[in-house]
Order: sequence, then structure tokens, then C-alpha cells
Amino acid sequence: MTHFTYKDGKLCVEQVAIATLAKAVGTPFYVYSDAILEQQYRQFANALAEAGLDAQIFYALKANSNLSVLATLATLGAGADIVSEGELRRALAAGIPAEKIIFSGVGKSRHELALALKKGVYQINVESREELHRLSAIAASMGIQAPIAIRVNPDVDAKTHAKITTGKKENKFGIDIAYLTEIYSKAQALPGIQPVALAVHIGSQITDLAPFQQTFTKVATAIRTLHKMGIAISQVDLGGGLGIAYKDEKLPTIAAYAGEIAKAFAGLDVKICLEPGRLIVGEAGLLVSRVEYVKQGDYKRFIIVDAAMNDLIRPTLYGGYHQVMMGDEAKNTGPTYPADIVGPVCESGDYLAIARSVAMVEEDDLMAFTMAGAYGAVMASTYNSRCLIPEILVKGQHYAIIRPRQTLAEQLALDKMAPWQAPAKIPLALT
Ligand code: LLP
Repeated sequence: MTHFTYKDGKLCVEQVAIATLAKAVGTPFYVYSDAILEQQYRQFANALAEAGLDAQIFYALKANSNLSVLATLATLGAGADIVSEGELRRALAAGIPAEKIIFSGVGKSRHELALALKKGVYQINVESREELHRLSAIAASMGIQAPIAIRVNPDVDAKTHAKITTGKKENKFGIDIAYLTEIYSKAQALPGIQPVALAVHIGSQITDLAPFQQTFTKVATAIRTLHKMGIAISQVDLGGGLGIAYKDEKLPTIAAYAGEIAKAFAGLDVKICLEPGRLIVGEAGLLVSRVEYVKQGDYKRFIIVDAAMNDLIRPTLYGGYHQVMMGDEAKNTGPTYPADIVGPVCESGDYLAIARSVAMVEEDDLMAFTMAGAYGAVMASTYNSRCLIPEILVKGQHYAIIRPRQTLAEQLALDKMAPWQAPAKIPLALT
């Protein structure tokens, strides 16, 4: 993490101290390094090119869909993998053209399918027979041939957290690969449907190459079968899922991953589409928080910070691990003690780190949770009527607030009284 270093004893994102940012926007906040975003994207793209692949990256917006982050990636050449109208509109707004957008997801509404067709997206990944029929009817009524992939479920265990495993039979995603020929024959015959690709995505935060290898082998065999049937599959979408090192995970290199793709699809003459999310943005982000209290309980010491589960839900939802860096370098060297780092939300599940060995922090110290660029801000909520926190992008010595802190007036204005009640006193008198 070369772009998060201490300068004059202060933790910096590129050239900007987190203390400077905290002064500008208060705490907590998310901050992203432009240099890391660019480095991660280029590393991924270069590895694909070096493996000799004809490949395109469709960045999975769900990992971080801030418009400024998207614009950065768009400039580098990224396409987008989207799962909702909101993500479609974000991708377009950030300058990613429709012909570089793949529409994934198990529950696309009629409205979303029609909109995607109208905008002319590159590919729609169909996840069920029911969706195939729905899409056929919509496309035919619009006089359009919808370019589709069937997302197959290969029944491969990605060996990751159960909540983010997607390629097993019991998961809701895709169509069992056993029905491959039936479903493609049907797709070929339906009006408004043009099967151009095959898609798969087995899960997220995958740290082992073996499940990928198994999947690629199954998918390559499937494509051979389809080619023999005379179905012109020219693209294969291998999803995302390659993990990052939150703690001390041993990860396959991107080169090894790309090498497996090259090996599996050699001679098949298909374009490779990839949908990485976490790997592109995860490392680029910190969640910065301030210590409110250091509470000594009878059994444990709790460091109560001003960020909470509503800001970063990964620890409590998936047992996610985010390393802690102190704002002041001096704090990293002194004695440590075991503690839980928790937030102000009224649930025992509200923690950001449990059973950690932590420095002798004091009230008002800054601490940063690393690897928070992916599935951080996008999963935030206003639980406990806490406001959504700001996001900042740093580039060299410059920084920009790419999402301001939500205000309480904005939050309360979303609610409306029923007509038989007295109107609420909004805007609030915040004095
Ligand atoms: N493509 C599809 C169809 C997906 O469902 C996903 C992630 C991706 C691509 C991107 O996967 P990635 O490269 O980021 O692993 N909130 C969870 C992760 C959920 C992932 C959902 N799908 C977490 O914080 O760990």
C-alpha cells in the first residue's frame, strides 16, 4: 500500500494527510487514492494483455459507484457491469458508453430491460428461463434483437464466504449448466433474442485459483458444445471475484489468473469479458474515523469510534477484516492492548474490528480502516438516523469532495407526514 504512508508522522493518502481531510469534512469519511485506482486497473488490464487475451474489462459498479470513481475508470478504458437502472444511469453519466455496458442480475424488471435495450447495452446476461421469455417479448415488441448471454450456474464451490458464493446449485444465480443445450436452442429460436455470449460468476473474494480453473474448463467445454450446435457464441463473460489481501491471505497473481483463462479458452476464438469490482477499487479506499471514547469494561476494552456498521457493514455482515492504521505514526510504536473497535449504533453487531491488538489510543485520535474502497460506501445506510458520510478523492497533493456529507435536513426531508397529520417542522432548526 505504497500510497498510504506516514509523512512527518502523519498518515497520508498520496500527498494529503488524513488529518487535513478530517479538518475539511469532519469524521467519519471515505477517502480514495486516484493513483491506486489507476494502478489496479492498469495492472489488471496489462496482465490480460500480457497473457495474449482479447479481453475487455467491465468494472462491476456495485463495488463502488461514485461518479467520480467511475469517471476515473472510464478514462482508463473501463466498461461497466451493472445490475440496476441506477447503475446504468451512473455508468452513462460518468461517460461509459452503452456499448461498453453489460447488464447482470437475477431480478431485472420489465422497465429495466426495456431501458437497457433502448440505450443499446452491449450484452444482457439472462439468469432464468422466465427472464428469457420476458426479454424476448419486450425486445420483439421494440423490434430489437437483444444481444444476450445465458449466465450458467456451473455448480462450483468458490470456497469463499457463504453469502458471496454464487456458483453452487443451491444459489439463486444462473441456469444450471446441465440445461445448456436446451436453453440455448430455446434462446436461438425466440424472437428478439440473439445469443452472442455465455456468462458465469462463481462468487467474490476468491483467494484460490482452483475454483476458477474448474469453472473455466466447464465453460470452455460448454462453448465447444454450442459452437458444434451452430450457435455463434463470440464472447465469454467470466464475471469477477478475484480477491484482495485484507489480512494475510495468499492470493494468486493476476498473471496466473489470466494465464488460466488463456489456457482454458485457447483456440476458441472468443472475446473475454471480465467483471472485476473489488480488485480494482478495494485497496484504493480508507474509512477514516475518530475515537470518541476508550471504554474500559470489566471483561474488555472498547474503542468507541464515530464510524459504525451503517458506514461499513462488512465486518458484521461477512466477518470482514479491515486493518487499522493510526493517524499518528507515533501511536503505532507504543504498547498495545486487546480491544474491540466499535461504533455508536445500538447493536452488539456494530463493530469494525474485534479482538485486535490496538495502540494506546486516546479520545480524538484518528484511525483508518484499510481496504475499504470496495463494498464500503455503496453499502452504507442511515440506520440510527446517521447521515451518509462524505467521500473524497485524492490525486497527488489535491483532493476533491466527491460526495458531501448528507445533512440531517436532507435526511429528514425524505420523510413525509400523512395528510391527516400536522406538517413536520422541516427545514430543521439545527441550532
Ligand atoms: N459480476 C457479478 C455478476 C457479480 O455479482 C459481482 C459481485 C461481480 C461481478 C464483482 O465481483 P468482485 O470482483 O467485486 O468480487 N458485498 C460483498 C461482495 C458482494 C459481491 C457481489 N457480486 C462484500 O463486501 O464482500
